[in-house]
Amino acid sequence: MLKQVKRAICRLRRDLHQHPELSWQESRTAQKICESLEGIGITPHRGVAGTGIVADLPGESVGPAIALRADMDALPIHEETGLSFASNVDGVMHACGHDGHSAMLIGAAMLLARESRLPAPVRLIFQPAEETGHGAKAMIREGALDGVGLIFGGHLDRHFPTGTIAVTDGAVNASSDRFRIEIAGKGGHAARPHETVDAVVAGSLLVMALQTIVSREVNPSHPSVISVGRFEAGTAANVIADTATLEGTIRTQDNQVREHLQRSIGRIAQSIAQLHGAAIHVEIDEGTPVLTNNPTWAALAREAAAAVVGTTNVVQMPNANMGGEDFSYYLEKLPGCYVRIGGHKPGTTAYPAHSSRFDFDEEALIIGAQYYHHLAILAGQMICDSTRQTQKRQSA
Ligand code: NI
Repeated sequence: MLKQVKRAICRLRRDLHQHPELSWQESRTAQKICESLEGIGITPHRGVAGTGIVADLPGESVGPAIALRADMDALPIHEETGLSFASNVDGVMHACGHDGHSAMLIGAAMLLARESRLPAPVRLIFQPAEETGHGAKAMIREGALDGVGLIFGGHLDRHFPTGTIAVTDGAVNASSDRFRIEIAGKGGHAARPHETVDAVVAGSLLVMALQTIVSREVNPSHPSVISVGRFEAGTAANVIADTATLEGTIRTQDNQVREHLQRSIGRIAQSIAQLHGAAIHVEIDEGTPVLTNNPTWAALAREAAAAVVGTTNVVQMPNANMGGEDFSYYLEKLPGCYVRIGGHKPGTTAYPAHSSRFDFDEEALIIGAQYYHHLAILAGQMICDSTRQTQKRQSA
């Protein structure tokens, strides 16, 4: 039976891979997922936050459901893997494994649907637009978490070999904010700088000063990053630029550090404005929050993972991941756990996610499916036990 599930989800993954769709445009992907769900007797609710899907499996208890979440979107990357099922959409590619995540969750649905009874209801969430950082929020706004008590998810990860699952207590993914800084000076002739306020000089000083926030103001045991990715100014060699624009990203693993970095950027920008007599405007666009696993639910995830891959193959992430992940919005609302599912075939080159050559080992799909299957049952039992105990206490 596992073989049958494995074959079905590999086929689905390849189909999704060959027809990737960008964030908010996952209509074919949604159609394929719905067909798969209907094929196993599960009724999907489509059109949640546009292309999102929610599907419920009944449990013995009527109480809170266990949610399992997969993302569905691809990236604007031209695929160069040379795979037989490579993208046939020019400039769009599943370069983050979300095709695998959706296929895995269908695998879990197939396994769960064959259970004669589930302790608690299970909700499957297929979420659009993870790559934009806005999909999860939209799903929450449209009620995807209504009636849910716990939520779980995971990401394929080429840092870990197939057959391992990384479960981490505490921070798993960083918060991710963007900033945009507009510097307004006074343009003029490059030979007469004394008549101008040079936006390039002010901007350069600002870029260097921003480097000191993480290195001089943040406790070194808290990983954090401020990177300026864009610096635009000037039009000609003999003209002093009157304006400059800087754009960059802020990553942290701690909410207090996040607030500190945001404040410091503003403070340093204003000081440099004063120093040079320029006007500087800072805009911070808050993105995904820190993704933090609660140790209680991480322990449960570890138990489910061990049942599939064995205790010795349940590992910890050696370093904090500074990438953002919008699963963090779900964990702001509900307890749960987010894991990394090993997808590197030993002996092959592991191209990074978001690379045009990214691929993962398809053997990881059935492992992920089994992990979610075990987890939904374990978590369901746990939620039912605690409800029963509360009821007993109340009636006593
Ligand atoms: Ni991803």
